[in-house]
Amino acid sequence: MKKDIDKTVKQLARLRREIAYHNYCYYILDAPIISDHEYDQLFLQLQKLEASHPELSSADSPTQRVGAESQEKFQKIAHRVPMLGLANAFSADELLAFNQRINNLLKTSSMEFVTELKIDGVAVALTYENSILVRGATRGNGLIGEDILDNLKTIRAIPINLRNEGTIPRVVEIRGEAYLPIPGFDRVNADRAESGEGPFANPRNAAAGALRQLDPRVTASRPLKFFAYSISYAEGFEMISQMQVLNILNSWGFSVNHHHRKHKSIEEVVRFCKEWEHRRNSLDYEIDGVVVKVNILEYQNQLGEISRDPRWAISYKFPGQLATTQLLKIKINVGRTGALTPYAVLKPVQLGGVTIRTATLHNENDIRRKDIREGDMVIVKRAGDVIPQIVGPVQGQKAGRRKEFSYPNSCPSCLSLVKRHPKEATTYCTNRDCPARRVETLKHFVSQECMDIRGLGLQTVEKLVELKFVQEPADLYLLTEQQLFKLPKFKEKAVANLIRAIKESRAQPFSRVLYSLGIPHVGKKVAELLAVKFKDIIHLSSANEEKIAQIEGVGPEIAGSVRKYFGEKSNQHIINKMETAGLNLRTGHFTGTRRGNFFQKSFVLTGTLDNFTRRKASEFIQNRGGQVGSSLSSKTDFLVVGHLPGSKLKKAERLGIRCISEQDLTRMGAVAPKK
Ligand code: IVH
Repeated sequence: MKKDIDKTVKQLARLRREIAYHNYCYYILDAPIISDHEYDQLFLQLQKLEASHPELSSADSPTQRVGAESQEKFQKIAHRVPMLGLANAFSADELLAFNQRINNLLKTSSMEFVTELKIDGVAVALTYENSILVRGATRGNGLIGEDILDNLKTIRAIPINLRNEGTIPRVVEIRGEAYLPIPGFDRVNADRAESGEGPFANPRNAAAGALRQLDPRVTASRPLKFFAYSISYAEGFEMISQMQVLNILNSWGFSVNHHHRKHKSIEEVVRFCKEWEHRRNSLDYEIDGVVVKVNILEYQNQLGEISRDPRWAISYKFPGQLATTQLLKIKINVGRTGALTPYAVLKPVQLGGVTIRTATLHNENDIRRKDIREGDMVIVKRAGDVIPQIVGPVQGQKAGRRKEFSYPNSCPSCLSLVKRHPKEATTYCTNRDCPARRVETLKHFVSQECMDIRGLGLQTVEKLVELKFVQEPADLYLLTEQQLFKLPKFKEKAVANLIRAIKESRAQPFSRVLYSLGIPHVGKKVAELLAVKFKDIIHLSSANEEKIAQIEGVGPEIAGSVRKYFGEKSNQHIINKMETAGLNLRTGHFTGTRRGNFFQKSFVLTGTLDNFTRRKASEFIQNRGGQVGSSLSSKTDFLVVGHLPGSKLKKAERLGIRCISEQDLTRMGAVAPKK
């Protein structure tokens, strides 16, 4: 019996090793040595053997890549080493200045650089312990990310086991970019079109969406890939240069983008950057620039970082790309403020691997200034994240252009009269009840950054407005199951999920409710400032402009807009309805013995926070019934991690204490306690 088990253990180990090796040949070396069929047979054999010996299953088996169940939500993970951003250079001059700064700081006269293509995907951090992948996290805010290990495991180019070549540190953290190649991106969008979902704007969004799936099986259906570019932590392991790091990563079984190069001077770097500006379209994945790094790690160390960007690296950003196509039609979109914004419907054109179908046109003046007309051949520009724009019509258009575009006198959605704002060059629909405005208002209200009500896509919102089930945001909280069953494609599960999502959104803090109101000029950050300062809607809505403008970061324009909003009767009505619906219209503020949100919870703080001094943060916690300690112990419930955290972060990790960000703290603190 014992002998049989030994034999099975050996057989399992052999199969797992063999499959891992073929994965490596296929995904990393791009040179498979067996046929797909042979590979499938091996895989099947392993699956069968594991199924008949569940006691011998192992988390690092190649069969475990897609095994995991769907999760409720992602756990937060504090990064061992912060994940920094990169400063940008947009020209050769800025690269030369970067070189100069470094030479001045280090008192050197020349520097060796490594250039790498800047892959346009999602940054992730992978932790290996004893060569086994144990953690995988997103960047998050740079200090705290989300644990997406199950999803990352579905990416075949990420080794589950490090290849055992030379020494491997006991604990090692690798960073790199998960990305979606362009053919895979096209396939994902084609599938989405078939199932009635809107397309992703670019491969990066599609990759980020795939990695944020709560169900790893969905991630597995997206053909993501991975390039490793740094070793951010390696216990007791000496490394000399970035070139060496890339070689080591390669030997451990990662794919490293092979278009990297070492340069003896910044002039060579500039040439490399310019060369890739032209070659970028020859790749089957998107790049948005070149990352330039000081090669020698000791120099990197000496240079350190400034305001969360390393001084030893810079990202050379390519200029926006251009394409020529025909402008088929100018259409008008009505925003939630009633602003009429023109946009261009284009003959679809490929630009940097992505199909462009529409472009923004800003406003009436812009169209006139550029003399853009329907039917024209136009130049379209796309730069990074920005929505495609129209540079202008191609010079020397064919004769017989159509006449100038004339702005409508009535709203394209409700046909009400429009009014032109003389200062802003913007035209507005004057009808508060305009369905297009209602839809936009609701879209904003339910969006992820606002009340975060999942399961309410554009089409559903439009239908809810069309059926008059919902006129304004607070009506969402009165929706009944019977009403939801009347929506297209809404069956038991979708109805139950949506009802739950709406109910749960009541717990969103006051600052989010404020942002959700859609007050012009009040973004997320300003809403948070207002919530902290005024604490509840009564004080805020009765404050005068002067008082509002006293807040640092809030100018007179914002103050005017807030005052105007609360001065309108109809808005007071909207807020009353929200109050009735049970939304948080005050920050949770509890004193004395009442049980606050943090009742019997103990906190420790590390690093600096954005919106609180230490004292204010302590008050915030204590007012909600929590305790604040100065040192960590096994009794501590939460470590609040600010910028530049101290050694407490590492200690908390060791003790398994939950690390939370400042945003988490405010969010948790703002939820009203149960009465
Ligand atoms: S190095 C401190 N190398 O670019 C060094 N980043 O703002 C920071 N990226 O989202 C990163 N390719 O994930 C580095 N070869 C490369 C990269 C790269 C893409 C991304 C990175 C992050 C952003 C940096």
